[in-house]
Amino acid sequence: MVFESQHPLVKHKLTLLRNVTTEPKKFRELIRELAMLLCYEATSDLGLKDVMVETPMGAANGKELVDKIGLIPVLRAGLGMVEGIWEMMPSSEVWHIGLYRDERTLKPVSYYNKLPTSPTVEVCLVLDPMLATGGSAVATIDILKKWGAERIKFVGILAAPEGVETLHSAHPDVAIHVAKIDDSLNDIGYIVPGLGDAGDRQFGTA
Ligand code: PRP
Ligand code: URA
Repeated sequence: MVFESQHPLVKHKLTLLRNVTTEPKKFRELIRELAMLLCYEATSDLGLKDVMVETPMGAANGKELVDKIGLIPVLRAGLGMVEGIWEMMPSSEVWHIGLYRDERTLKPVSYYNKLPTSPTVEVCLVLDPMLATGGSAVATIDILKKWGAERIKFVGILAAPEGVETLHSAHPDVAIHVAKIDDSLNDIGYIVPGLGDAGDRQFGTA
């Protein structure tokens, strides 16, 4: 289950995001907007229950979300994807997972994990703009599953075919939602054409 967005707004904003001249302030704004648009697509199957609502004109049939959502940003780059989504779904819980990629081995190194003792939500959205080798996404989802999470979706911005393959093989039940699957990974594990380093470009640390 891999979903590459076909939405014109996503394609337009992704092009601005990739541009090497896009400054961190604009870059963060675009990450936030893209995250909201991708989350809109990724949550199209959330459960609803029937409710009645009083309008100024009388009673109307309505719907209320039944699934409780957990947002799991992968530090650091996933942080920029949280705020916009959280505003749209304010009752979500946010749990941070800290991983970085060892530059030599490209393997994820875990350094932080702030999860409650057991899952309190029905759906977990893992937020990380980049799915490169897939190692970080697989490690994050391993942690969530060990902890007891059952329904997990990955929401990212760019993916390499290798990352999609690795994540799908390790966790075939996890839907992958991205703006674009790019051409390849280069020899230092960066997505090509990609957008560079998503963490550095958000936080101005390049
Ligand atoms: C980036 C990105 C992912 C990871 C993807 O984080 O945000 O977490 O790389 O690569 P992978 O699919 O090959 O694991 P990075 O390790 O650069 O850490 P940072 O966000 O703290 O800069
Ligand atoms: N992490 C990034 O920030 N960019 C890439 O292209 C790959 C991993």
